[in-house]
Amino acid sequence: MIKCDFLVIGSGIAGLTFALKAAKEGTVLIVTKKEKSDANTNYAQGGIASVFSPDDSFDLHIEDTLKAGDGLSKTGVVEIMVREGPHLVQELMDFGVQFSKKVSRRAKKALDLGMEGGHSKRRIVHSKDLTGKTIETALLNALKADKNIEMLENHVAVDLTIDSRKEHKRCCGAYIYENKSWNVNPVVSRMTLLATGGAGQLYLHTTNPSIATGDGTAMAFRAGVPVANMEFIQFHPTSLYERGETERAFLISEAVRGEGAFLRTVDGKTFMEKYHPRKSLAPRDIVARAIDTEIKKSGDKYVLLDTSPIGRRRFKNRFPTIYNVLVDRGIFPQNKSIPVVPAAHYLCGGIATDSDAKTTLKGLYAAGEAAYTGVHGANRLASNSLLEALVFSERAFRDAQRKLPNLTFSTRKVPMFMRKRKKRAEKMIVVHNREIIKKIMWDYVGIVRRESRLIEALKRVITIKEEVERIFSSTQIFTELIELRNMAQVAELIIRSALMRKESRGLHFIVDYPHRDDRYWKKDTIITRGDRI
Ligand code: FAD
Ligand code: SIN
Repeated sequence: MIKCDFLVIGSGIAGLTFALKAAKEGTVLIVTKKEKSDANTNYAQGGIASVFSPDDSFDLHIEDTLKAGDGLSKTGVVEIMVREGPHLVQELMDFGVQFSKKVSRRAKKALDLGMEGGHSKRRIVHSKDLTGKTIETALLNALKADKNIEMLENHVAVDLTIDSRKEHKRCCGAYIYENKSWNVNPVVSRMTLLATGGAGQLYLHTTNPSIATGDGTAMAFRAGVPVANMEFIQFHPTSLYERGETERAFLISEAVRGEGAFLRTVDGKTFMEKYHPRKSLAPRDIVARAIDTEIKKSGDKYVLLDTSPIGRRRFKNRFPTIYNVLVDRGIFPQNKSIPVVPAAHYLCGGIATDSDAKTTLKGLYAAGEAAYTGVHGANRLASNSLLEALVFSERAFRDAQRKLPNLTFSTRKVPMFMRKRKKRAEKMIVVHNREIIKKIMWDYVGIVRRESRLIEALKRVITIKEEVERIFSSTQIFTELIELRNMAQVAELIIRSALMRKESRGLHFIVDYPHRDDRYWKKDTIITRGDRI
């Protein structure tokens, strides 16, 4: 058994920034299920939205965020995020993150601020199109030197451990599976942070890497913590269309549209003017739905992103990674337009937290994409998620710092998880069920929903969930099985939330209730284990 003051589950921006601060107060153990840089953070392209320009203001950033959130974002929490953002972006630079600067001599040290959909001003702080990797690398370098931080790669959190005695009720840490030895050991902590990221892998087409299976959300739910607004799945409008299936769709950053690229159909017609005054730079839910509609209408497999207004040299300089990938695949942005389709990208809902990232379970915090803070409401504004992760992991740290002197280790003895079992389930069964979930979610719980399809999806997902639970409790567990159990759980939560919300708002569009209904639905959908729904 390992003991630490802070257990951090996940090594993306939320987990790492929390760990670097917590290490000043006590011992930190980071567990991460694959390689340490295997995180959504590492793939972020566009950047971090934050107010740095003299012609921008907190009020405008707040207004844009609330507008994108379509009536469900919590104003107070949005204000916190926007106001605390610039200081934490500056702190990233102090950790060694190099953001792109303007090239002109007059504006020597000014940040080069990008533009993205739904923003009324240029406010995206970026490192060309490798923002996430630049951040992840700098944070990992910074924590190398810290003796108070230990990191375990290829270790998978399976479930939280709870002291359930009434007067002591709290989180005591988690059971951690080690990939190499197949052992599951308890880690006992004074405080635990779930920073496990999103759940894009629940969908057939996603921009998310393989780690994004909703583990933290499922673990928290099983521990009795409420989850909120799971129906709001953000589809990024422009992932690169490729023939056949890929584990992860390559993203064509919204910043490309921010620099002037625009959408048109395969036969050359622009269409975004029919859907929103901001055309190709409308909020994401609108662009993704417009593309979905146009593709269904024309029967084409994709629409085109015309990059000609940017020019080859500028494109190559501003988006070197995207450029190289396109060249590799025989698409030259200057000569040809880029074939693009929407793909599942971001989970707006998640583990319900307050504005200090606390969950309802004592000793348990959640931050980053795994958490639901109330910032994004029904739709996330572009580049607000790295910012949210930064701000609320910092607030988790500050709250934990205040509470630490009065929070000792739980006195409850943590039971063993289960003995090693000789029998391992066939991987084929796990792979097969994973594929089925991804297909069900894509076909039945996608950009445009229908009640009858959601009901059918729920039936199928529950059958898979029950089968997986049987396998999980009777055979030797392994990473893919742990993930599948979580995926089935999170799929069920998404579908149930989608069925609860009897209106269309933001990212949740359901043909049976095509309008926003503020009389009944200007509220969150919250599900807690044991609820009768
Ligand atoms: P992640 O960075 O996803 O990290 C999660 C960590 O948890 C990983 O280390 C993972 O291995 C670990 N983990 C998960 N489950 C377990 C488990 N059971 N046990 C142990 N470890 C576990 N947002 C922006 O604001 N701007 C952008 O420009 C932007 N671009 C994006 C581009 C792409 C292609 C993608 C996919 C996302 C983008 N986003 C962007 C979203 C943003 O990157 C993520 O929301 C953010 O990085 C999430 O950070 P996180 O720390 O919460 O989670
Ligand atoms: C992008 O670069 O388009 C992604 C930005 C985001 O998801 O916020």
